Amino acid sequence: MNRKPEVTVRPAHNIRGSVRLPGDKSISHRYAMLAGIAEGPSRLENYSTGADCASTLNCMRALGVTWVRKSEGDNVIEVQGRGRLTAPLTALDCGNSGSTMRILSGIVAAQNFSSEMVGDQSLSQRPMERVITPLTMMGAEIASEKGRPPLHVTGAKLKAIDYKVPVASAQVKSCLLFAGLLAEGETRIEEPIRTRDHGEMALRAFGVQLDCTGKQVRMSGGQRLRGIEVRIPGDLSSAAFFLCAAALFPGSQLTIPNLLMNPTRARLLDVLTQMGLRISVTQLEKIHGELVGTLQVEGGKLKGATIAGAESAALIDEIPILAAIAPYTEQGLEVRDAKELRVKESDRIAALATNLRLMGARVEEREDGLKIPGGQTLRGAKLDSFDDHRIAMAFAVAALRAKGETVIENAQAVEISYPAFFQSLEEVVEK
Ligand code: S3P
Repeated sequence: MNRKPEVTVRPAHNIRGSVRLPGDKSISHRYAMLAGIAEGPSRLENYSTGADCASTLNCMRALGVTWVRKSEGDNVIEVQGRGRLTAPLTALDCGNSGSTMRILSGIVAAQNFSSEMVGDQSLSQRPMERVITPLTMMGAEIASEKGRPPLHVTGAKLKAIDYKVPVASAQVKSCLLFAGLLAEGETRIEEPIRTRDHGEMALRAFGVQLDCTGKQVRMSGGQRLRGIEVRIPGDLSSAAFFLCAAALFPGSQLTIPNLLMNPTRARLLDVLTQMGLRISVTQLEKIHGELVGTLQVEGGKLKGATIAGAESAALIDEIPILAAIAPYTEQGLEVRDAKELRVKESDRIAALATNLRLMGARVEEREDGLKIPGGQTLRGAKLDSFDDHRIAMAFAVAALRAKGETVIENAQAVEISYPAFFQSLEEVVEK
């Protein structure tokens, strides 16, 4: 991997060009897991290049799944599904990836062997009781460090569950659907707010029948999966950094082909449109249920926004970049009901407030969000990524409109979701 602990970002004049995004991280995780337990081969093109999705593949290998990365094409992974997993000889290393640990725990909980799931320092601080509680109700035994990793999962013959998920979390929903698939009986999951539906789409793609109505999903256990061939659409949460960079410059022009447009993920496009970015979409198609299109954007005036309630859950991965550009907007940004941001790869509310202040911005930090006035001028500064990929990328974009240079320390954090981020940014920035 390309190690770049410190990156200097200089102010830009404009954004212009085209950027191709690596495959969506949420979809890559789910396809890799389902391909591993499916019968027959799967071919996953444009698999996410991020270290998080490599963690999922490595865990699948430790569980006896054979896969290869092809030398031709866009990060093509071929998985040989055998319809079953084998006991791992080592701990399943989930690295920095909450999705790997939370979603995969649903699959390993249904096996006739035990697994240990470990993570890095950041992941070891993150709450896991949200999956431990329902998986225990289904019959698994999971020991943890007071609800945090490492997890010692003793697999069992699971019983279906009828469960109201207390937190809005697509990771928890997918965990329980994957566990429910391997359980006996009909599983019913209800969420408080509708979250991203990639788990449901992925199950269907692999041949599973499920019933989705509003915030409820029902599915019978014991259904068989068959392998698929698919091209994974570009990651919309990674595209967010480029869209917001374009939004900073009136007259910018950017094209993003093959981009995920799934409505449960695309709230950012509505918010940026309301803020003043002109967005047009062409070549819309559905690939295994996932909406994909080519996006063309043009920067204009940058107005403010308020993000609260269900919108905060829908935009949870995009709030860091929206907050980082907020001082440059006319009216500023208010974020409420987003306390989940405090238990992501870093405490993102604190990280955003710290870095914005280091750039000279006024910020009000709240328990569940932030209030950032608009019309501010920022200056370049020395910032930390807090070992958080989205914080590193958000401030690289904020730096484009600052006065003077910005240095981002621990910038290698971008490898978690987007190793080529700085090269891609360089390609579209006009100095
Ligand atoms: C994800 C769901 C979200 C998101 C994460 C990816 C997923 O987490 O923040 O980056 O792939 O399901 P939560 O489930 O904790 O909301």
